[in-house]
Amino acid sequence: MSRTRTSDVLVIGGGIIGLVTAWRAAQRGFATAVADPEPGGGAAQVAAGMLAAVTELHYGEQTLLGLNLASARRYPDFAAELTELTGHDLGYRRCGTLAVALDADDRAHLRELHALQQQSGLESQWLSGRECRRLEPMLAPGVRGGLRVDGDHQIDPRRLAGALLAACERAGVVFHHAWAERLTVVGDRATGVVTADGTELGAGQVVLAGGSLSGRLAGVPEDVLPPVRPVKGQVVRLTMPGRHGPFLSRTVRAVVRGSHVYLVPRESGELVIGATSEELGWDTTVTAGGVYELLRDAHELVPGITELPLTETRAGLRPGSPDNAPLLGPTGLDGLLLATGHYRNGVLLTPVTGDALAHALATGDLPEEARPFTPKRFSTATALTEQPA
Ligand code: GLY
Repeated sequence: MSRTRTSDVLVIGGGIIGLVTAWRAAQRGFATAVADPEPGGGAAQVAAGMLAAVTELHYGEQTLLGLNLASARRYPDFAAELTELTGHDLGYRRCGTLAVALDADDRAHLRELHALQQQSGLESQWLSGRECRRLEPMLAPGVRGGLRVDGDHQIDPRRLAGALLAACERAGVVFHHAWAERLTVVGDRATGVVTADGTELGAGQVVLAGGSLSGRLAGVPEDVLPPVRPVKGQVVRLTMPGRHGPFLSRTVRAVVRGSHVYLVPRESGELVIGATSEELGWDTTVTAGGVYELLRDAHELVPGITELPLTETRAGLRPGSPDNAPLLGPTGLDGLLLATGHYRNGVLLTPVTGDALAHALATGDLPEEARPFTPKRFSTATALTEQPA
């Protein structure tokens, strides 16, 4: 080993979740470091940035809904704080979302979602096809109805990553531009990592925030290793015309033949269309089939997209977890905490994750709202003791 460098808190992974954790930890006075060969990269470079607590609600995910809503509520202050501190515009746009249906099956699906939203006390309004088109004139004439959700907004995740990086630098976070290869464990405690070039990084507490790679850090005891897997998402980016009023004024989404498709219009003129959901391991190839399906489904919703320049195609990996919810806070190994498994909600959950991890680093406990997301819910020992008699 070449050198040993120490910090109070070492965050493994410099994506938006790792960066927000490092920033909030540094604000609490911890000497904080991040290990990542390319901080600011990761899934945020691909993600569309929908803050879609209401339109992405699923049966069985009511507990996650609570955390999603808590994070959505923090977004205005969080974005203002970051912008004030760094001067970066985050592309935070309070534009709302319209989820539409193209055929009878889609409409039935959307009616179910509406009922679930109402049972959950959420605000959404059912619109006829004509009312949808009045809101968004570029929608296809065949749209048969939709749900207007004025509380689901968007942010530009690339700008968010850039601002978090700047905020970390201002707060004195140290960056080690290297892969963390192995967790160092002494006795029953995590004490740091060894990087790919053999550097030993010591730390009072280690936060594993490596996105879909979080389960691959060597040296983590089996019972503590996060059960995350990569879920591929392909996304395309187009450019909207700047003249003749907005092409789309809010996020438009639908389930077309069972696949989710969404169109996220940015103020910059970028239109992000996503996303596939593929369980293909570590593959990040952009495929003709993936792009074809996205454009075909998006074209059914908004036929005018075929006129727009296609500027980018990209694939990224969501960190999926067994219950689609994140793993936050202390693990069964002293000194090791997790901030991973955010699956479809990483951008939305960034503010609440930073706050929850800072609280856990300072007190040893998660705040009330984040307790259901303890990683210990997946440990064998906990599962056995919690079996009903
Ligand atoms: N939340 C959008 C996605 O994961 O595709």
